[in-house]
Amino acid sequence: MERTFVYLKPNAVRRGLIGEIIKRFEQRGIKIVALKMHWVTKEEAEELYKMHKQKSFYKDLIEFITGGPIVAMIVEAPRVIEMVRHIIGNTDPLKAGTGTIRGEFALTTTKNLIHASDSKENFEREYKIFFKDEEIIDYYLDV
Ligand code: CMP
Repeated sequence: MERTFVYLKPNAVRRGLIGEIIKRFEQRGIKIVALKMHWVTKEEAEELYKMHKQKSFYKDLIEFITGGPIVAMIVEAPRVIEMVRHIIGNTDPLKAGTGTIRGEFALTTTKNLIHASDSKENFEREYKIFFKDEEIIDYYLDV
């Protein structure tokens, strides 16, 4: 079973889209194994996005994600890294397919509502910024 790290960006929280987005994961059968609301610190944001430090959008991105609370989660399912990115859609909302979260609700690339790890290596790195291992809850999904 695979896990991935997902967080709903401040505009998703402010727009009241927490339920709408989580519903899409749950209806697909994806299991939430850790969940929290959190105000991202500058240090956490810089660690999360350190690979983008030289990019033109870096400063705006850090400012945006530290500007309001986020909802962070770890989810679990077979091939969930690929599955979640499929449900979310392209980073650029203009290229995100109809029916994806970004394709339906997002307007700009910075404010693209949601982030998900793009590899097992990045999942391992990213979830540890926000969760302790004991915050991951193991249980079974009921019918
Ligand atoms: P995310 O999935 O969180 O991963 C990196 C983030 O950087 C991305 O979503 C966008 O919010 C942001 N990003 C990536 N490319 C651009 C871009 N060209 N312009 C503005 N923001 C970007």
